[in-house]
Amino acid sequence: MKNILVLGAAGQIGSELVPYLRKIYGNTAVVATYRSTPLIPQIMESGPCENMDALDAKIMFDVVKKYDIDTIINLVAVLSAVGESKPTLAWKINMDSTLNSLEIAKEIKGAVFLPSSIGAFGPTTPMDNTPQDTLMRPTTVYGISKVAAELLGDYYFLKFGVDCRGLRYPGIISNVTLPGGGTTDYAVEIYYEAIKHKKYTCNLGPGTFLDMMYMPDALRSLVELMEADPSKLKHRNCFNVSAMSFDPEMIAAEIKKHIPEFEMTYEVNPVKQAIANSWPNSMDHSAAQQEWGWKPEYDLKTMTEDMLRILTPRLS
Ligand code: SER
Repeated sequence: MKNILVLGAAGQIGSELVPYLRKIYGNTAVVATYRSTPLIPQIMESGPCENMDALDAKIMFDVVKKYDIDTIINLVAVLSAVGESKPTLAWKINMDSTLNSLEIAKEIKGAVFLPSSIGAFGPTTPMDNTPQDTLMRPTTVYGISKVAAELLGDYYFLKFGVDCRGLRYPGIISNVTLPGGGTTDYAVEIYYEAIKHKKYTCNLGPGTFLDMMYMPDALRSLVELMEADPSKLKHRNCFNVSAMSFDPEMIAAEIKKHIPEFEMTYEVNPVKQAIANSWPNSMDHSAAQQEWGWKPEYDLKTMTEDMLRILTPRLS
């Protein structure tokens, strides 16, 4: 990666990925794009930014040419829960941004990063230690778009030599920009509410196990995959990656160790619960380990310590 275009830089991952990449590759080498949600000031002030629509291939191509881009990271997406209320919009946004990225990468002989998700799996997938290569019949429009994007990524690699690689991210926990419209969002909100109000109403029920990852691991995994020796990659789109698996009871218990007054109650959201029930409890990420050396750094304990250390002074 030399000159990198980050689409969807105002979102949960983009807000932290752009500063992370600028530190490694240089401020001017990372172009942040956004549409309606403004970028955080740190991104606006530290390097090139473009207000553009990732669904407009011509504008994207002009931006790619302007900055001599060789790698496109497409973080534009409508997440799982919102996708269920706006399925046609979710499909259009998720697929058109993917197709435009791949088409332009083909034109410039560049690389593409595609984020897939635990949402690419479905109720017929083995739930525990979900294999890298397994049955994928998701039942959300988000998941269907992710499987389609994975297949397209491999198609563009095999057919046109586009260096497309991707990760099946679990729920990502972070403290800069809140996620929006996902099923795993509770695991971020819980920290904010625990600090502010010492209580949280959880919209997923006890026993709902899902894979999760702390943002620093998510950022590092992306760079490690994109910089991996291509001759070692047997898979491309996309690798299972995980760092931990927990249910609401476990994260609440971990928070209680630091905030003993913290109380959690449940008000299950049936749409989110049905989505979560269709996703793996825990993924096997041994292909990522073997092919490019993936190793998470944070677990539930160390992530909770870090989240509370960062958020407590900010929210109190
Ligand atoms: N975090 C996403 C969601 O919950 C899953 O990739 O929709």
